[in-house]
Amino acid sequence: MKLFSSIPNKQLKGKTVLLRVDLNVHHEDLHYSLRVVRAIKTVQAIRAQGARVVILSHQGRPDPISNFQFPVSGENKKLSLKPFVAVFKKALQENVVFIPEVTKGNAIISKSKACVFVCENLRFWKGEEQNSIAFARQLAHLGDVYVNDAFADSHRAHASVDAITRCIPSYAGPTLIHEIRALEGVRKQSRKHPFVAVVGGAKALDKIELLHWFMNHADSILTGGGVANTFLAWCGYEVGDSVRDLDTSIVRDFVSCPALHIPRDTVISKNKILDIGNKTIRFYVQEIQRSRMVVWNGPVGDTDIARFQDGSRALWRAILKQARVRKDFYAVIGGGETTAFVLKEINAISNDKIPPNIFLSTGGGAMLEFLSGKALPGIQALR
Ligand code: 3PG
Repeated sequence: MKLFSSIPNKQLKGKTVLLRVDLNVHHEDLHYSLRVVRAIKTVQAIRAQGARVVILSHQGRPDPISNFQFPVSGENKKLSLKPFVAVFKKALQENVVFIPEVTKGNAIISKSKACVFVCENLRFWKGEEQNSIAFARQLAHLGDVYVNDAFADSHRAHASVDAITRCIPSYAGPTLIHEIRALEGVRKQSRKHPFVAVVGGAKALDKIELLHWFMNHADSILTGGGVANTFLAWCGYEVGDSVRDLDTSIVRDFVSCPALHIPRDTVISKNKILDIGNKTIRFYVQEIQRSRMVVWNGPVGDTDIARFQDGSRALWRAILKQARVRKDFYAVIGGGETTAFVLKEINAISNDKIPPNIFLSTGGGAMLEFLSGKALPGIQALR
């Protein structure tokens, strides 16, 4: 794999770098988004080499629109990447120009004095998700070199992640490499015991393969959120209108696993389970206190609402304390909501206050697929 960091200093001067990042974040979490923080750092590193940057990303899952309907309007406006122009402008303190249509990109770039450009949401073009080589070529024409720094999207075989690497010299960016190294570390260190996995978030279905991997490697699997609700419903507990998978049978292979724990008590409001209860918090914290490695994906409560954050906060504090007292401890925390919650908790948007033995991953689905041993197309394409 060719690394962006291997490009000799100054070789990029005057060139245009196509930088694929993942700006797929909730607007309310923008200032606490690890993905945005990491994207800004990489843009700064490229700018320091004297190159221009065209920022490429997707946002959400829009229906592709016809080429005649640009710039976007209606519902699609909510998924436009235009608001990121102001975000990058503020962070970089330089002019940033928006490219509303890929086909007009070259004209905009060549006429502009700006050095940083944000391209419109790539998923507005059907060629993106179709991994179309024709669309990838259109993107490739916008620059001289391609850098994939979107670990969080590398599990998708899409044009800006996969096909583009066949059209232009392509490199792995610093975030991508950092993620691969940290998560490979987890796979190797799964011998580091006691190993505790915390699996929360909305859906069990997305985490089935990871649960299988944890079943074979973790000493304790602590569940929360919609994942736990699916287990509770399968076990016959009343879960009311709680978020869960409707097909609860997907978790049946796991319930007899001695390492798996479902909440002993919960916090309920308006007929919904919204957090783990105090007994469960005490037990989960004890499990973390005796661990040497933790992997956490998905909050254990509804962290958008202050009074349902207690469970996730207690787990984060236990992980932080463990990382500070035990130098041989290692934790990986991933998923957009979980990392945004952690960043809000430490009240900072840089990683400075996080001990080096805690790694925050930008990946949601990508982290889960990587840990469960799948080859990610975006990484394979660079090999
Ligand atoms: C993510 O948030 O996991 C990535 O941005 C990928 O998004 P997707 O699941 O819509 O492909």
